[in-house]
Amino acid sequence: MKHLMDIIDFTVDELYSLMDTANDIIAHPDKYADSCRGRKLATLFFEPSTRTRLSFEAAMLELGGSVIGFSDGGNSSASKGESVADTAKVVSMYADIIAMRHPMEGAPYVAAGNASVPVINAGDGGHHHPTQTLADLLTIYREKGGFGNLTVGVCGDLKYGRTVHSLIAALARYKNVKIVLISPEELRVPDYVKSDIMDRSGMQYEETACLEDAIPFLDVLYMTRIQRERFADKDEYERLKDSYILTAEKLSAAKPDMTILHPLPRVNEISVKVDDDPRACYFKQVANGKYMRMALILKLLDETDASSEPMRDCETPLGLHCDNPRCITSCEQELEHAFKPAEGKKGVYRCAYCDREYKK
Ligand code: CP
Repeated sequence: MKHLMDIIDFTVDELYSLMDTANDIIAHPDKYADSCRGRKLATLFFEPSTRTRLSFEAAMLELGGSVIGFSDGGNSSASKGESVADTAKVVSMYADIIAMRHPMEGAPYVAAGNASVPVINAGDGGHHHPTQTLADLLTIYREKGGFGNLTVGVCGDLKYGRTVHSLIAALARYKNVKIVLISPEELRVPDYVKSDIMDRSGMQYEETACLEDAIPFLDVLYMTRIQRERFADKDEYERLKDSYILTAEKLSAAKPDMTILHPLPRVNEISVKVDDDPRACYFKQVANGKYMRMALILKLLDETDASSEPMRDCETPLGLHCDNPRCITSCEQELEHAFKPAEGKKGVYRCAYCDREYKK
């Protein structure tokens, strides 16, 4: 049984295959209208969402299946203290596949370890958002014809923006993709993304705080929202919230065929006046998200068998304990702490849930 926790759970070939299926669904939707007849998707959303939840639901309905779930953890038995593990075991008895969004990092990983059906991470705190990356990849593929020789600017909140972390991990596996990281000093991409993803893959990248300096060189500009809900210090959010606003004037310096993406929701970081620019592809990106989620549901249901297998190899040395307050282990007391060796780093381990690094 295959789950999707992180975009790198899929090989590059598997990603191409998902994109091929999504393109075929776009071209021949009728062919897929009964593909999931009799199957149920459960959407377990403990955190707000418009696109991810509704596109998952639309995806299953357009495949002929049906949907159950909740859009607010406060209306579920989690509000009475039920654990993620028990929730996953229970929902496995009602549904064939689960999509889960949760504010705590690693919560879908706990669900996957306890469910008897495939689990999809629909966003876990500031950690990963692999199905957004599926939407991003299909949009780049359709707009640019592939991933070779692209300079991709990612702009905004690169610290808490889970979509950025997943997108960089995906693009690092393609040749000749250069990343320009555009953010204020305080919201730079976490060190582990640089050392474990970009440095290890040999990906070319540079960092700047100035969107205007970078924009003339970009083939793709991926704007992101400053993530208010992830800031512990509200004054810092107020100081940084208007760091970048893409306007028609700023776009005059960009390439005529630059693709503008945004995972949405936006607040004010792209002026609505940009929406009519032919380079603005963020609403196409929304549509592509539904097709990629259809392709994903088909793939995971196809690959499901009766057996459950361990999620990842863990080798937990004695005495390690994750102290990340955003990790699911911080609020589910009985959850066993688990670590895996950090690849290429002797004596370094990563929390299996949230990826925080620890030395032993
Ligand atoms: N892009 C995205 O995840 O949007 P939602 O929060 O509306 O699902």
